[in-house]
Amino acid sequence: LFNYYPFLGFLLKPHKMILKKVEEVCVILRKCIKESKERIDENNLTSYIDALVFKQEEKNKSNTLFHDANVLASALDLFMAGTETTSTTLQWAILLLMKYPEIQKKVHTEVQQVLGPGSLPTFEDRKNMPFTNAVIHEVQRFVTLLPHVPRCTSVDTHFKGYFIPKGTTVIPLLSSVLLDKTQWEMPDEFNPNHFLDEDGNFVKKKAFLPFSTGRRNCIGESLATMELFIFFTGLIQKFTFKPPPGVKESELDMTAEAGFTMRPHPQCACAVLRQ
Ligand code: HEM
Repeated sequence: LFNYYPFLGFLLKPHKMILKKVEEVCVILRKCIKESKERIDENNLTSYIDALVFKQEEKNKSNTLFHDANVLASALDLFMAGTETTSTTLQWAILLLMKYPEIQKKVHTEVQQVLGPGSLPTFEDRKNMPFTNAVIHEVQRFVTLLPHVPRCTSVDTHFKGYFIPKGTTVIPLLSSVLLDKTQWEMPDEFNPNHFLDEDGNFVKKKAFLPFSTGRRNCIGESLATMELFIFFTGLIQKFTFKPPPGVKESELDMTAEAGFTMRPHPQCACAVLRQ
């Protein structure tokens, strides 16, 4: 609401908290940009910020898109888009494994078989862990984490018989594919078999689009996929997740809270260290 009607800002409280948090991150990033400028070395660019700062130095400063405000905004984009998404997906994964302990057990058996107790997971292990891979895919499908990212038509567009003038806000609904009855056997159920064949091999599905599709799809897809696999297997290797004492699996709250992403309601989990 604040984005569309900034003049209503004084009525809307949550945006103040969001802007405060954004400013806190900006303070850290400005420091990183300053440090990068002080030690920038063409032969030793060690980060995304270094690369942007280097471009800034390289070009005529008055005529560049790589000015400070854009460097800050670009770095902020990656932080904002890249942190809550993966961490919230992991929260859902833990909640779903608490709800379905038999699925958790099967993941752990596979983790044990492939990794053993000592070695940490690497992304390479994923090809030998079809069940775990299917569970992570199913978590992402089932929770439809980021179903509505607003975009805008950059030219007059004709689409499926509709005319959409240039400059119209368009909000694709990713839930329409992720929960499509024609694409998934049981779209509203959490069922890792959606990604497994009869022999237990992992199967890719074309309707699996949590990162959207097209030219402006998620640039963090490969990073997020890697992070989700490594954190998820690492957590299951070390812990059993259970509802807190006195709470039944059926009582866990699976409804999503409205926000930037679809988040689970805050609730307790017991992480029991495996022997
Ligand atoms: C589970 C994790 C993630 C999910 C489900 C997710 C999902 C999405 C979706 C649906 C979009 C909109 C794409 C579109 O409109 O076509 C998007 C955009 C974007 N994502 Fe992600 N994302 C995830 C993780 C990440 C990470 C780790 C990063 C960066 C480190 C990232 C950076 C971005 C950026 C910068 C955009 C805007 C791209 C553009 O406008 O061209 N995301 N993401």
